[in-house]
Amino acid sequence: MSDKLSLYIMTDTHFLSPKMWEEGGSITNREKGDQIAIKSTPFILRSFFKKIIEDNETEYVLITGDLINNGDKQSHLDFIEELKALTAVGKKVLVTCATHDYAGLGDDENIFHAVYYTKDGCEKAERVYKTELPELYFDYGHKYADSVDNESGSYSVPLPNGLRLIAIYDNGNGRSHCGLFDEGFVWLENEIKKANSNNETVFLAVHHPVIPPWPVYSDVVNFEMFGGYERLRKIMCENGVKVIFTGHTHVQGIKKYTDNAGRSFYDITTSALPSAAGKMRKVVFDKENNTCSVESIGIDTIEGFDTKGLSARDYIYSLNFSGLLEKSLPLIKTDWEEFVENASHVVNVDILKKHPHISKTVLKHFSKMKMTLPAMFAKKVGGITKDEMTKLKNTLVKDTAFGVLSHVFSGNAPFTPDTPEYKVITGCIIRAGKWLKCFNVDIDKLVPGEETALETVKHFLYNTRTGDDNSIIIDLEK
Ligand SMILES: [Fe+2]
Ligand SMILES: [Fe+2]
Repeated sequence: MSDKLSLYIMTDTHFLSPKMWEEGGSITNREKGDQIAIKSTPFILRSFFKKIIEDNETEYVLITGDLINNGDKQSHLDFIEELKALTAVGKKVLVTCATHDYAGLGDDENIFHAVYYTKDGCEKAERVYKTELPELYFDYGHKYADSVDNESGSYSVPLPNGLRLIAIYDNGNGRSHCGLFDEGFVWLENEIKKANSNNETVFLAVHHPVIPPWPVYSDVVNFEMFGGYERLRKIMCENGVKVIFTGHTHVQGIKKYTDNAGRSFYDITTSALPSAAGKMRKVVFDKENNTCSVESIGIDTIEGFDTKGLSARDYIYSLNFSGLLEKSLPLIKTDWEEFVENASHVVNVDILKKHPHISKTVLKHFSKMKMTLPAMFAKKVGGITKDEMTKLKNTLVKDTAFGVLSHVFSGNAPFTPDTPEYKVITGCIIRAGKWLKCFNVDIDKLVPGEETALETVKHFLYNTRTGDDNSIIIDLEK
């Protein structure tokens, strides 16, 4: 038997059955400015599955929730049909579900509705209840388990080479608490302890994040974190669990948490499959070296779907909030109404509608603005050299802004401390902070949480985390 066990991990597939929509304004508007390309989700899924099928050496596939988009029955049934392409060639598929996988009952906080998208509206569709999900996906979870937490649906699976996966179903109310309750935590901790006493290496998978993509995330939307994440961190640190795979944020990230006693683990969160950043992880547990290596694999094309000649990334990006804005900027000159319409899917456009002439002028200037202007403001504190100033003459502010925005979900933003863009942006913040102080305004108080404004912005300029959001080799002994 090989010393290595590999598996593919993907998340947030947000599958929408082609039987659940007809072409028209309703589905098109739903897709615009979202982070996922809903119409093409079946084709994106198949394009990734094709890569998995080509890999004869990898037997396992793990999908961590938001399997479908709206909690409707038809999408689940068709998603399960898609999974059969993997099982037919001998792959073992393990899934957990999350809030997009069921519709709210009215007595919880889940906001998703099972709908059919008509040409210009929505009709109610048959929905799936949260409690039905573990049974619906029995062949893709509980079938392989030797222990199940009946309340949450979480399950524990023995794998080859002394490995054990504990797949956690998010339990809770569908929004402000998506995690485990006391009973689930007790089951989880017992399972980990039992595995440890059998000398098994445990890794976990759950939908919601245990470490936020950036600190400001948990300060602003703490309810988006795994419900009970502090307790889960403690359990992982105390019991030597080194890795958890998560999703939900749609952000590609690898983060490390270290507790006060110096014990640590990694939260490897993967971008949504049908997003511009869409990638799956290939994870290899190496028994001999006691390591877990992670790499990321994307697709170049969406096979079978007409992207009008665009690559998978460019097509999906053109629908994302950042891409839609970037693509729409030239419309300011040619079709103001269309620009406002597109922008309305991303930002509040009241001011654009109220003051079209001023807005148009400001946006036209912004589109042409060179980085030399903010660089003048930031020059002294930013330490910008003459050569860098020359380079900035050819750099537009808008391109720098979209350079940041387009990496919010894909990770590994490009403006490392040695780049002139980094110096300009951080210099502007330092300078603005000093300037605002004259008016008794503390710039750091304008940003939620413990970090300063400068620290917060840096997370979005380059990888301040583990250095690479796409790959890592983790020593499981440390
Ligand atoms: Fe999602
Ligand atoms: Fe989610």
